[in-house]
Amino acid sequence: MIDLKKLAEAGSIEEALLDKVDLARLPVHIAVIMDGNGRWAKGRNLPRVEGHRAGIASVRETVETAARLELGALTLYAFSVENWKRPRYEVATLMMLLKEYLRKELATLMTNNIRFAPIGRIEGLDPSVQRELRYAEKETAGNTGLVFQIALNYGGRAEIIDTVNRIMTILHDKEMSDCVIDEDFFSNHLYTANVKDPDLLVRTSGELRVSNFLLWQIAYAEIHVTKVLWPDFRRRHLYEAIIDYQARDRRYGAVDQDDAGMFIEADEQHA
Ligand code: FPP
Repeated sequence: MIDLKKLAEAGSIEEALLDKVDLARLPVHIAVIMDGNGRWAKGRNLPRVEGHRAGIASVRETVETAARLELGALTLYAFSVENWKRPRYEVATLMMLLKEYLRKELATLMTNNIRFAPIGRIEGLDPSVQRELRYAEKETAGNTGLVFQIALNYGGRAEIIDTVNRIMTILHDKEMSDCVIDEDFFSNHLYTANVKDPDLLVRTSGELRVSNFLLWQIAYAEIHVTKVLWPDFRRRHLYEAIIDYQARDRRYGAVDQDDAGMFIEADEQHA
């Protein structure tokens, strides 16, 4: 974390924002809907894929910052089950960029003790992409720091359906058809079984949608939407999101401690 201080230029906005982040109350898991690559490119009269290419620098900086902050997990939404509807060239470029990223960044992931974990219908991706993903996953499996999940060929509904089917197979194989399934059991069979649910969901480019992302897991996540387009997203924007998160009052359906006292007194009067 002291490292992050060193990265910020003295007197910069980034430094001022970092000072406002309460390092003792960081979110454990941040999930990000990276959006706005196409608009970023359009604004520069460039082909859409140039937006994706520029977005890699944002991925790199966000992953590195999350690791230095010692967060538990970071999940980036890179390719949805619906994204196959995009032009073939765009899909091919995205897959190529992903492979390139993994090859180039593996050493950095190792240095930063990051465990890489792809989530989604990975078996539906091109075998060459699957190979790179599995290789990075295997190489980083022993790392104990940040868990970095990339959602690929991912859909929140698809994940829920896959989980139901997985559970049905398990119950069938164990001949446990009368078993009662609770929330913990269900969570433990999602793609994200090994990580805590996100505390903070960040979406870039100003859209107010969750776009079929981690539908089960974001039940209690705080949502931060920034107008910044993904290729412009930098460390300071992550700090802004965390500061916004830290200003929220997370009640999980309960009431504030102060208000709770008031209600207890009222309950006692009515007893
Ligand atoms: C959304 O922007 C972005 C995507 C569908 C892909 C995100 C991918 C990357 C940043 C690069 C590859 C990822 C990794 C992890 C190496 P959009 O194209 O929908 O933008 P628009 O809404 O402005 O058209």
